[in-house]
Amino acid sequence: MQAINASIGFDRKMWRQDIAGSLAHAAMLAHVGIISAADEAAIRDGLGAIAARIEAGDFAWDEGLEDIHMNIEARLTQAIGEAGKRLHTGRSRNDQVALDVRLWVRDAIDGLSGQVEDVMRALVARAEEHAATVMPGFTHLQPAQPVTFGHHLLAYVEMLSRDLSRLRDCRRRMNESPLGAAALAGTGFPIDRHMTAAALGFDGPTRNSLDSVASRDFAAEFLFACAMCATHLSRFAEEIVIWTNPYFGFVKLSDAFTTGSSIMPQKRNPDAAELVRGKTGRITGALVGLLTVLKGLALTYFKDMQEDKEGIFDAAENLTLSLAAIAGMVRDLQPNAARLEQAAGAGFSTATDLADWLVRELRMPFRDAHHVTGRLVARAEAKGCDLAGLGLAEMQAEEPRITDALYGVLTVQASVASRQSYGGTAPANVARMAAEWRERLA
Ligand code: ARG
Repeated sequence: MQAINASIGFDRKMWRQDIAGSLAHAAMLAHVGIISAADEAAIRDGLGAIAARIEAGDFAWDEGLEDIHMNIEARLTQAIGEAGKRLHTGRSRNDQVALDVRLWVRDAIDGLSGQVEDVMRALVARAEEHAATVMPGFTHLQPAQPVTFGHHLLAYVEMLSRDLSRLRDCRRRMNESPLGAAALAGTGFPIDRHMTAAALGFDGPTRNSLDSVASRDFAAEFLFACAMCATHLSRFAEEIVIWTNPYFGFVKLSDAFTTGSSIMPQKRNPDAAELVRGKTGRITGALVGLLTVLKGLALTYFKDMQEDKEGIFDAAENLTLSLAAIAGMVRDLQPNAARLEQAAGAGFSTATDLADWLVRELRMPFRDAHHVTGRLVARAEAKGCDLAGLGLAEMQAEEPRITDALYGVLTVQASVASRQSYGGTAPANVARMAAEWRERLA
Protein backbone atom coordinates (compact mmCIF):
# COMPACT_ATOMS: atom_id res chain seq x y z
CA MET A 1 0.00 0.00 0.00
CA GLN A 2 2.69 2.46 0.95
CA ALA A 3 4.67 1.84 -2.20
CA ILE A 4 1.77 2.55 -4.52
CA ASN A 5 0.19 5.27 -2.39
CA ALA A 6 3.08 7.53 -1.45
CA SER A 7 3.83 10.53 -3.65
CA ILE A 8 6.50 12.17 -1.50
CA GLY A 9 9.18 10.85 -3.87
CA PHE A 10 8.03 13.35 -6.48
CA ASP A 11 5.57 15.83 -4.98
CA ARG A 12 8.22 17.21 -2.61
CA LYS A 13 9.18 19.37 -5.61
CA MET A 14 6.16 21.46 -4.56
CA TRP A 15 7.42 22.25 -1.06
CA ARG A 16 7.71 25.98 -1.67
CA GLN A 17 4.18 26.12 -3.04
CA ASP A 18 2.83 24.02 -0.17
CA ILE A 19 4.41 26.28 2.43
CA ALA A 20 3.27 29.45 0.64
CA GLY A 21 -0.29 28.10 0.61
CA SER A 22 -0.16 27.22 4.31
CA LEU A 23 1.21 30.64 5.26
CA ALA A 24 -1.63 32.36 3.39
CA HIS A 25 -4.19 29.99 4.90
CA ALA A 26 -2.92 30.51 8.46
CA ALA A 27 -2.83 34.30 8.08
CA MET A 28 -6.44 34.21 6.87
CA LEU A 29 -7.54 31.88 9.71
CA ALA A 30 -6.09 34.33 12.23
CA HIS A 31 -7.56 37.35 10.44
CA VAL A 32 -11.11 35.98 10.65
CA GLY A 33 -10.57 34.74 14.21
CA ILE A 34 -10.59 30.99 13.60
CA ILE A 35 -7.14 30.64 15.16
CA SER A 36 -5.33 33.01 17.53
CA ALA A 37 -2.65 35.47 16.50
CA ALA A 38 -0.22 33.54 18.68
CA ASP A 39 -1.00 30.29 16.86
CA GLU A 40 -0.50 32.00 13.53
CA ALA A 41 2.86 33.38 14.64
CA ALA A 42 3.94 29.91 15.77
CA ILE A 43 2.84 28.43 12.46
CA ARG A 44 4.71 31.10 10.53
CA ASP A 45 7.94 30.55 12.47
CA GLY A 46 7.56 26.79 12.26
CA LEU A 47 7.01 26.80 8.51
CA GLY A 48 9.93 29.20 8.09
CA ALA A 49 12.21 26.82 9.94
CA ILE A 50 10.98 23.90 7.85
CA ALA A 51 11.59 25.83 4.64
CA ALA A 52 15.14 26.56 5.76
CA ARG A 53 15.75 22.87 6.52
CA ILE A 54 14.41 21.77 3.15
CA GLU A 55 16.40 24.45 1.37
CA ALA A 56 19.55 23.24 3.15
CA GLY A 57 18.80 19.68 2.14
CA ASP A 58 18.53 18.30 5.67
CA PHE A 59 14.84 17.57 5.90
CA ALA A 60 14.12 13.86 6.35
CA TRP A 61 11.21 12.91 4.09
CA ASP A 62 9.05 10.11 5.40
CA GLU A 63 7.32 7.87 2.90
CA GLY A 64 5.02 6.69 5.67
CA LEU A 65 3.56 10.21 5.72
CA GLU A 66 2.52 9.77 2.10
CA ASP A 67 2.90 13.19 0.52
CA ILE A 68 4.35 16.70 0.78
CA HIS A 69 1.31 18.01 2.63
CA MET A 70 1.46 15.43 5.45
CA ASN A 71 5.24 15.55 5.69
CA ILE A 72 5.24 19.28 6.30
CA GLU A 73 2.20 19.32 8.59
CA ALA A 74 3.52 16.45 10.71
CA ARG A 75 6.91 18.10 11.11
CA LEU A 76 5.26 21.41 11.98
CA THR A 77 3.17 19.79 14.70
CA GLN A 78 6.24 17.98 16.02
CA ALA A 79 7.99 21.35 16.27
CA ILE A 80 5.23 23.65 17.57
CA GLY A 81 2.59 21.32 19.02
CA GLU A 82 -1.14 22.30 19.24
CA ALA A 83 -0.94 25.25 16.83
CA GLY A 84 0.34 22.94 14.08
CA LYS A 85 -2.72 20.77 14.48
CA ARG A 86 -5.00 23.78 13.92
CA LEU A 87 -3.51 24.66 10.50
CA HIS A 88 -5.72 22.26 8.57
CA THR A 89 -8.97 23.89 9.78
CA GLY A 90 -11.31 24.65 6.89
CA ARG A 91 -8.97 23.01 4.40
CA SER A 92 -8.46 19.57 2.86
CA ARG A 93 -5.58 17.98 1.04
CA ASN A 94 -7.88 18.06 -1.99
CA ASP A 95 -7.92 21.83 -2.28
CA GLN A 96 -4.37 21.99 -0.95
CA VAL A 97 -2.95 19.83 -3.72
CA ALA A 98 -5.04 21.60 -6.36
CA LEU A 99 -3.53 24.85 -5.10
CA ASP A 100 0.05 23.56 -4.98
CA VAL A 101 -0.11 22.23 -8.54
CA ARG A 102 -1.53 25.52 -9.80
CA LEU A 103 1.19 27.49 -8.07
CA TRP A 104 3.86 25.15 -9.45
CA VAL A 105 2.51 25.36 -12.99
CA ARG A 106 2.25 29.14 -12.73
CA ASP A 107 5.91 29.39 -11.72
CA ALA A 108 6.86 27.01 -14.52
CA ILE A 109 4.98 29.15 -17.05
CA ASP A 110 6.85 32.24 -15.89
CA GLY A 111 10.22 30.50 -16.22
CA LEU A 112 9.44 28.95 -19.59
CA SER A 113 8.02 32.20 -20.98
CA GLY A 114 11.29 33.98 -20.24
CA GLN A 115 13.21 31.19 -21.95
CA VAL A 116 11.00 31.26 -25.04
CA GLU A 117 11.67 35.00 -25.29
CA ASP A 118 15.37 34.32 -25.00
CA VAL A 119 15.26 31.89 -27.94
CA MET A 120 13.24 34.43 -29.93
CA ARG A 121 15.83 37.11 -29.22
CA ALA A 122 18.63 34.81 -30.32
CA LEU A 123 16.79 33.97 -33.56
CA VAL A 124 16.05 37.62 -34.28
CA ALA A 125 19.70 38.60 -33.82
CA ARG A 126 20.83 35.92 -36.27
CA ALA A 127 18.04 36.85 -38.69
CA GLU A 128 19.23 40.46 -38.78
CA GLU A 129 22.75 39.25 -39.45
CA HIS A 130 21.53 37.01 -42.29
CA ALA A 131 18.66 39.00 -43.75
CA ALA A 132 20.27 38.76 -47.20
CA THR A 133 21.97 35.36 -46.96
CA VAL A 134 20.27 33.18 -49.58
CA MET A 135 19.48 29.54 -48.99
CA PRO A 136 17.28 26.94 -50.66
CA GLY A 137 13.65 26.91 -49.64
CA PHE A 138 12.07 23.48 -49.63
CA THR A 139 8.72 21.83 -49.95
CA HIS A 140 8.71 18.02 -49.66
CA LEU A 141 12.44 18.51 -48.80
CA GLN A 142 12.85 19.07 -52.56
CA PRO A 143 14.38 22.33 -53.85
CA ALA A 144 11.51 24.80 -54.30
CA GLN A 145 12.48 28.49 -54.41
CA PRO A 146 15.38 30.47 -52.95
CA VAL A 147 14.68 32.14 -49.61
CA THR A 148 16.87 33.94 -47.11
CA PHE A 149 18.36 32.39 -43.99
CA GLY A 150 17.01 35.28 -41.94
CA HIS A 151 13.50 34.68 -43.23
CA HIS A 152 13.76 31.01 -42.32
CA LEU A 153 14.81 31.87 -38.75
CA LEU A 154 12.00 34.41 -38.41
CA ALA A 155 9.49 31.68 -39.28
CA TYR A 156 10.44 30.06 -35.96
CA VAL A 157 10.13 33.42 -34.18
CA GLU A 158 6.49 33.51 -35.35
CA MET A 159 5.85 29.96 -34.09
CA LEU A 160 7.49 30.67 -30.74
CA SER A 161 5.54 33.90 -30.35
CA ARG A 162 2.34 31.85 -30.55
CA ASP A 163 3.75 29.37 -28.03
CA LEU A 164 4.47 32.29 -25.74
CA SER A 165 0.96 33.65 -26.11
CA ARG A 166 -0.47 30.18 -25.41
CA LEU A 167 1.55 30.00 -22.17
CA ARG A 168 0.38 33.47 -21.16
CA ASP A 169 -3.19 32.68 -22.07
CA CYS A 170 -3.07 29.50 -20.00
CA ARG A 171 -1.64 31.45 -17.07
CA ARG A 172 -4.41 34.03 -17.27
CA ARG A 173 -7.16 31.37 -17.35
CA MET A 174 -5.73 29.27 -14.51
CA ASN A 175 -5.03 32.17 -12.18
CA GLU A 176 -7.86 31.45 -9.71
CA SER A 177 -7.37 30.02 -6.26
CA PRO A 178 -8.99 26.69 -5.33
CA LEU A 179 -7.94 27.08 -1.68
CA GLY A 180 -10.96 26.92 0.64
CA ALA A 181 -12.96 24.55 -1.57
CA ALA A 182 -11.94 22.11 1.19
CA ALA A 183 -12.67 18.43 0.51
CA LEU A 184 -15.29 19.14 -2.17
CA ALA A 185 -18.23 21.03 -0.66
CA GLY A 186 -16.68 24.13 0.88
CA THR A 187 -16.61 24.65 4.64
CA GLY A 188 -18.81 25.88 7.48
CA PHE A 189 -15.97 27.98 8.91
CA PRO A 190 -16.13 31.70 8.06
CA ILE A 191 -13.02 31.61 5.87
CA ASP A 192 -12.09 34.42 3.49
CA ARG A 193 -11.17 32.89 0.17
CA HIS A 194 -10.71 36.28 -1.46
CA MET A 195 -8.02 37.08 1.08
CA THR A 196 -5.99 33.91 0.46
CA ALA A 197 -6.44 34.26 -3.30
CA ALA A 198 -5.05 37.82 -3.22
CA ALA A 199 -2.19 36.85 -0.91
CA LEU A 200 -1.11 34.15 -3.35
CA GLY A 201 -1.26 36.41 -6.41
CA PHE A 202 -4.49 35.02 -7.88
CA ASP A 203 -7.11 37.15 -9.59
CA GLY A 204 -9.71 35.72 -7.22
CA PRO A 205 -11.09 32.43 -5.84
CA THR A 206 -12.59 29.70 -8.03
CA ARG A 207 -16.41 29.81 -8.05
CA ASN A 208 -17.37 26.17 -7.55
CA SER A 209 -15.92 23.93 -4.85
CA LEU A 210 -16.54 20.69 -6.79
CA ASP A 211 -14.82 22.03 -9.90
CA SER A 212 -11.96 23.33 -7.75
CA VAL A 213 -10.86 19.92 -6.49
CA ALA A 214 -11.89 17.88 -9.55
CA SER A 215 -10.34 19.88 -12.41
CA ARG A 216 -6.92 19.69 -13.94
CA ASP A 217 -7.68 21.21 -17.33
CA PHE A 218 -5.28 24.05 -16.50
CA ALA A 219 -2.52 21.44 -16.33
CA ALA A 220 -3.62 19.78 -19.58
CA GLU A 221 -3.64 23.16 -21.25
CA PHE A 222 -0.17 23.88 -19.92
CA LEU A 223 1.04 20.52 -21.24
CA PHE A 224 -0.42 21.25 -24.66
CA ALA A 225 1.40 24.58 -24.73
CA CYS A 226 4.60 22.71 -23.75
CA ALA A 227 4.04 19.96 -26.33
CA MET A 228 3.37 22.46 -29.11
CA CYS A 229 6.45 24.46 -28.22
CA ALA A 230 8.54 21.27 -28.03
CA THR A 231 7.17 20.28 -31.43
CA HIS A 232 8.35 23.58 -32.90
CA LEU A 233 11.76 23.13 -31.33
CA SER A 234 11.82 19.58 -32.64
CA ARG A 235 11.25 20.72 -36.21
CA PHE A 236 14.07 23.21 -35.87
CA ALA A 237 16.26 20.51 -34.33
CA GLU A 238 15.49 18.26 -37.29
CA GLU A 239 16.61 21.05 -39.62
CA ILE A 240 19.84 21.44 -37.67
CA VAL A 241 20.43 17.70 -38.08
CA ILE A 242 19.86 18.00 -41.85
CA TRP A 243 21.79 21.24 -42.27
CA THR A 244 24.87 19.99 -40.41
CA ASN A 245 25.00 16.79 -42.44
CA PRO A 246 28.09 17.09 -44.66
CA TYR A 247 26.04 16.24 -47.77
CA PHE A 248 24.14 19.46 -47.11
CA GLY A 249 26.88 21.44 -45.35
CA PHE A 250 24.57 24.40 -44.76
CA VAL A 251 25.62 25.20 -41.21
CA LYS A 252 28.34 24.22 -38.80
CA LEU A 253 27.96 23.73 -35.06
CA SER A 254 31.02 24.18 -32.87
CA ASP A 255 32.36 21.45 -30.62
CA ALA A 256 30.25 22.95 -27.84
CA PHE A 257 27.12 21.41 -29.32
CA THR A 258 28.43 18.31 -31.08
CA THR A 259 29.97 15.12 -29.84
CA GLY A 260 32.56 12.77 -31.26
CA SER A 261 32.37 9.05 -31.61
CA SER A 262 34.27 6.60 -29.44
CA ILE A 263 35.39 4.77 -32.59
CA MET A 264 35.06 7.11 -35.61
CA PRO A 265 37.49 10.02 -35.20
CA GLN A 266 35.89 12.20 -37.91
CA LYS A 267 32.42 12.39 -36.29
CA ARG A 268 30.66 15.59 -35.27
CA ASN A 269 27.25 14.41 -34.19
CA PRO A 270 24.54 17.02 -33.48
CA ASP A 271 23.49 15.27 -30.25
CA ALA A 272 21.94 18.33 -28.63
CA ALA A 273 19.60 18.81 -31.61
CA GLU A 274 18.77 15.11 -31.63
CA LEU A 275 17.91 15.22 -27.94
CA VAL A 276 15.68 18.26 -28.37
CA ARG A 277 13.86 16.30 -31.07
CA GLY A 278 13.78 13.17 -28.91
CA LYS A 279 12.52 14.87 -25.76
CA THR A 280 9.43 16.00 -27.62
CA GLY A 281 8.18 12.44 -27.29
CA ARG A 282 8.02 12.48 -23.50
CA ILE A 283 6.53 15.98 -23.40
CA THR A 284 3.71 15.00 -25.75
CA GLY A 285 3.45 11.80 -23.73
CA ALA A 286 2.76 13.81 -20.58
CA LEU A 287 -0.16 15.57 -22.30
CA VAL A 288 -1.66 12.33 -23.57
CA GLY A 289 -1.05 10.71 -20.17
CA LEU A 290 -2.90 13.40 -18.25
CA LEU A 291 -5.87 13.53 -20.63
CA THR A 292 -6.13 9.77 -20.33
CA VAL A 293 -6.04 9.90 -16.53
CA LEU A 294 -8.83 12.48 -16.48
CA LYS A 295 -11.20 11.05 -19.05
CA GLY A 296 -12.91 8.46 -16.86
CA LEU A 297 -13.16 10.43 -13.61
CA ALA A 298 -16.53 11.24 -12.11
CA LEU A 299 -16.64 14.26 -9.82
CA THR A 300 -14.78 15.05 -7.69
CA TYR A 301 -11.34 14.02 -6.38
CA PHE A 302 -9.85 10.59 -7.00
CA LYS A 303 -6.35 9.44 -6.22
CA ASP A 304 -5.87 8.95 -9.98
CA MET A 305 -5.13 12.67 -10.00
CA GLN A 306 -1.92 12.11 -8.06
CA GLU A 307 -0.63 10.84 -11.42
CA ASP A 308 -0.76 14.39 -12.85
CA LYS A 309 2.45 15.54 -11.21
CA GLU A 310 5.30 13.51 -12.66
CA GLY A 311 4.24 14.28 -16.21
CA ILE A 312 3.93 17.99 -15.46
CA PHE A 313 7.33 18.14 -13.74
CA ASP A 314 9.03 16.07 -16.40
CA ALA A 315 7.55 18.06 -19.29
CA ALA A 316 8.50 21.40 -17.76
CA GLU A 317 12.01 20.28 -16.86
CA ASN A 318 12.72 18.79 -20.26
CA LEU A 319 11.29 21.77 -22.12
CA THR A 320 13.57 23.95 -20.01
CA LEU A 321 16.55 21.89 -21.15
CA SER A 322 15.42 21.97 -24.77
CA LEU A 323 14.89 25.73 -24.84
CA ALA A 324 18.32 26.31 -23.32
CA ALA A 325 19.95 23.97 -25.84
CA ILE A 326 18.18 25.59 -28.79
CA ALA A 327 19.10 29.08 -27.60
CA GLY A 328 22.73 27.94 -27.36
CA MET A 329 22.72 26.36 -30.81
CA VAL A 330 21.09 29.37 -32.45
CA ARG A 331 23.88 31.57 -31.07
CA ASP A 332 26.55 29.02 -31.96
CA LEU A 333 25.68 27.90 -35.48
CA GLN A 334 27.66 29.25 -38.42
CA PRO A 335 25.91 29.20 -41.77
CA ASN A 336 28.15 28.54 -44.79
CA ALA A 337 26.98 31.38 -47.05
CA ALA A 338 28.82 30.18 -50.16
CA ARG A 339 27.44 26.67 -49.87
CA LEU A 340 23.92 27.98 -49.16
CA GLU A 341 24.03 30.19 -52.24
CA GLN A 342 25.22 27.34 -54.43
CA ALA A 343 22.50 25.04 -53.07
CA ALA A 344 19.90 27.80 -53.45
CA GLY A 345 20.54 27.89 -57.19
CA ALA A 346 20.40 24.13 -57.71
CA GLY A 347 17.35 22.18 -58.81
CA PHE A 348 16.06 24.87 -61.22
CA SER A 349 14.97 26.83 -58.16
CA THR A 350 14.31 30.01 -60.20
CA ALA A 351 11.96 28.30 -62.65
CA THR A 352 9.04 30.16 -61.08
CA ASP A 353 10.86 33.46 -61.68
CA LEU A 354 11.21 32.50 -65.33
CA ALA A 355 7.50 31.72 -65.62
CA ASP A 356 6.65 34.99 -63.80
CA TRP A 357 8.83 36.88 -66.33
CA LEU A 358 6.83 35.37 -69.22
CA VAL A 359 3.61 36.48 -67.55
CA ARG A 360 4.87 39.97 -66.76
CA GLU A 361 6.80 40.81 -69.92
CA LEU A 362 4.90 38.83 -72.58
CA ARG A 363 1.45 38.96 -70.91
CA MET A 364 1.32 35.19 -71.23
CA PRO A 365 -1.36 33.46 -69.07
CA PHE A 366 0.36 31.83 -66.08
CA ARG A 367 -0.71 28.29 -67.06
CA ASP A 368 0.94 28.70 -70.50
CA ALA A 369 4.05 30.19 -68.89
CA HIS A 370 4.19 27.17 -66.59
CA HIS A 371 4.21 24.85 -69.64
CA VAL A 372 6.88 26.80 -71.53
CA THR A 373 9.06 26.87 -68.40
CA GLY A 374 8.55 23.14 -67.91
CA ARG A 375 9.85 22.51 -71.42
CA LEU A 376 12.87 24.78 -70.80
CA VAL A 377 13.64 22.87 -67.57
CA ALA A 378 13.47 19.61 -69.54
CA ARG A 379 15.91 21.03 -72.11
CA ALA A 380 18.34 22.18 -69.42
CA GLU A 381 18.09 18.84 -67.68
CA ALA A 382 18.87 17.01 -70.94
CA LYS A 383 21.79 19.33 -71.56
CA GLY A 384 23.06 18.95 -68.01
CA CYS A 385 23.01 22.67 -67.22
CA ASP A 386 20.88 25.06 -65.19
CA LEU A 387 18.33 27.44 -66.77
CA ALA A 388 20.88 30.23 -67.28
CA GLY A 389 23.04 27.70 -69.14
CA LEU A 390 20.55 27.62 -72.03
CA GLY A 391 21.47 29.98 -74.88
CA LEU A 392 19.02 32.56 -76.18
CA ALA A 393 18.43 30.49 -79.34
CA GLU A 394 17.47 27.48 -77.21
CA MET A 395 15.10 29.66 -75.17
CA GLN A 396 13.53 31.10 -78.31
CA ALA A 397 13.01 27.61 -79.72
CA GLU A 398 10.34 27.24 -77.00
CA GLU A 399 9.10 30.85 -77.02
CA PRO A 400 10.34 33.19 -79.76
CA ARG A 401 9.51 36.38 -77.86
CA ILE A 402 12.03 35.65 -75.07
CA THR A 403 14.83 38.26 -74.92
CA ASP A 404 18.19 38.58 -73.14
CA ALA A 405 16.43 40.44 -70.32
CA LEU A 406 15.08 37.11 -69.09
CA TYR A 407 18.51 36.08 -67.75
CA GLY A 408 18.31 38.86 -65.18
CA VAL A 409 15.61 37.06 -63.18
CA LEU A 410 17.37 33.70 -63.07
CA THR A 411 19.85 34.50 -60.28
CA VAL A 412 19.01 33.59 -56.69
CA GLN A 413 19.68 37.17 -55.57
CA ALA A 414 17.20 38.56 -58.07
CA SER A 415 14.71 35.91 -57.06
CA VAL A 416 14.71 36.70 -53.34
CA ALA A 417 14.94 40.47 -53.92
CA SER A 418 11.73 40.31 -55.96
CA ARG A 419 9.69 38.61 -53.21
CA GLN A 420 8.53 41.84 -51.62
CA SER A 421 4.91 40.90 -50.99
CA TYR A 422 4.04 41.36 -47.29
CA GLY A 423 5.59 38.45 -45.39
CA GLY A 424 7.77 37.52 -48.38
CA THR A 425 11.45 36.60 -48.24
CA ALA A 426 13.01 39.76 -49.77
CA PRO A 427 16.05 40.88 -47.71
CA ALA A 428 14.50 44.31 -47.19
CA ASN A 429 11.35 42.68 -45.75
CA VAL A 430 13.40 40.42 -43.51
CA ALA A 431 15.53 43.26 -42.17
CA ARG A 432 12.40 45.30 -41.41
CA MET A 433 10.59 42.39 -39.74
CA ALA A 434 13.66 41.44 -37.66
CA ALA A 435 14.00 45.03 -36.46
CA GLU A 436 10.33 45.06 -35.50
CA TRP A 437 10.77 41.87 -33.47
CA ARG A 438 13.94 43.20 -31.83
CA GLU A 439 12.01 46.19 -30.59
CA ARG A 440 9.04 44.16 -29.44
CA LEU A 441 11.32 41.85 -27.46
CA ALA A 442 13.45 44.62 -25.96
N1 ARG B 1 -0.99 13.34 -2.74
C1 ARG B 1 -2.33 13.63 -3.14
C2 ARG B 1 -2.39 14.04 -4.59
O1 ARG B 1 -1.36 14.29 -5.12
C3 ARG B 1 -2.88 14.72 -2.31
C4 ARG B 1 -4.36 14.72 -2.15
C5 ARG B 1 -4.77 13.56 -1.34
N2 ARG B 1 -6.14 13.64 -0.97
C6 ARG B 1 -6.78 12.59 -0.51
N3 ARG B 1 -7.99 12.75 -0.18
N4 ARG B 1 -6.19 11.44 -0.33
O2 ARG B 1 -3.42 14.08 -5.22
